[in-house]
Amino acid sequence: GRVLLAYSGGLDTSCILVWLREQGYEVITYMANVGQEEDFEAAREKALKIGATKVYIEDLRRIFVEELIFPAIQANAIYENVYLLGTSLARPVIAKRQIEIAEKENCEYISHGCTGKGNDQVRFELAYYALKPDIKVIAPWRIPEFYERFPGRPALLAYAAEKNIPVVQTTKQPWSTDENLFHCSYEAGVLEDPDVTPPKNMWKLIVDPEDAPNTPERITITFKQGIPVMVKNNSDGITVSDPLDLFLYLNTIARRNGIGRIDIVENRFIGIKSRGCYETPGGTILRTAHVDLEGLVLDRQVRSLRDQFITPQYSQLLYNGQYFSPERSVLFAALLESQKSVNGEVKLKLYKGNVIIEGRKSDTEKLYDMDESSMDVTGGFSPIDADGFIKTQSIRLKKWGMSVFK
Ligand code: ARG
Ligand code: SIN
Repeated sequence: GRVLLAYSGGLDTSCILVWLREQGYEVITYMANVGQEEDFEAAREKALKIGATKVYIEDLRRIFVEELIFPAIQANAIYENVYLLGTSLARPVIAKRQIEIAEKENCEYISHGCTGKGNDQVRFELAYYALKPDIKVIAPWRIPEFYERFPGRPALLAYAAEKNIPVVQTTKQPWSTDENLFHCSYEAGVLEDPDVTPPKNMWKLIVDPEDAPNTPERITITFKQGIPVMVKNNSDGITVSDPLDLFLYLNTIARRNGIGRIDIVENRFIGIKSRGCYETPGGTILRTAHVDLEGLVLDRQVRSLRDQFITPQYSQLLYNGQYFSPERSVLFAALLESQKSVNGEVKLKLYKGNVIIEGRKSDTEKLYDMDESSMDVTGGFSPIDADGFIKTQSIRLKKWGMSVFK
């Protein structure tokens, strides 16, 4: 049979490739470019050298920004109050193209190098099965003949030496990373003790806030229906509006100003706790700006519904790998409806790891009325109306107070 293997060029998936061939499969490899720092051409050569019959390298950066990242910003998506879901967001894009290629190449099987303890196996496979219910998945890290043969890195290295698989790095960095243009994650290895502070040199994307410039940088972000359509740097006048360029530009300025690092212990879908560190530069700025603009332009009840239902549900389904599901379509329709009024701009100051709001405005949305909200003029509001409002609201509280406080 033919397998389409999600290949990274690293030791694990290279051994998986050779092992699959040893089991009699023909192997085609697939690499998704979701903005990670990677030598794709070197990986292509390596895959061909060790027996792939064909190599696909797909640039998915634009789809990733437009179809996954921007909707996550509209939703204020966040997991367990802190994690901006960088790995979760990339999985649907990667899985979808993998299935498309599997169909085109008539691959009966699909394979990946995720471990049996993580979220990613769930995310990839639920996406595969939703998009192509008859696909057959080979997950070597859950197959006893594979994981018993390769109980650790030394066994993989020995196999690589035996099979002439080139190994670039001999000393492995003491943690595992997953990088894309939205974030970089760090987990496992020395990070497994949740009380061990990550070494300064672990963080690869973002400048340590202590080392960030002493002068703040100021930008303005314009949103249309909750989607960022322009970023302006107020120091040098640079403006960017192409979705991919805009996102990459926000990454650049966030990175140099130390914005977007977190260190957490999270609950994986499978039930295991895991310590992870994340760098999400541009995404951190965008989410802060979007949340702020909504204060000005979203109706109170819409905001409440969105905060109580759409944000947590959408975040959870992303984390749990249920992007291709009927519930996502329902939530997404409601999300888009909620964002119709999210038009305007937000002024921000970026300074040593902080995203500081300096103002916001909207030329089209009129929910905020300066006179009505003023403490100095009455506007259209008659203060005496608040008398009845408070009296009515207090009816049940007086009853409760009489029985509790006597
Ligand atoms: N814990 C994070 C998540 O579940 C990051 C996973 C990183 N994945 C990886 N293959 N290194 O989204
Ligand atoms: C893995 O287990 O392959 C990486 C971590 C995760 O998926 O949660």
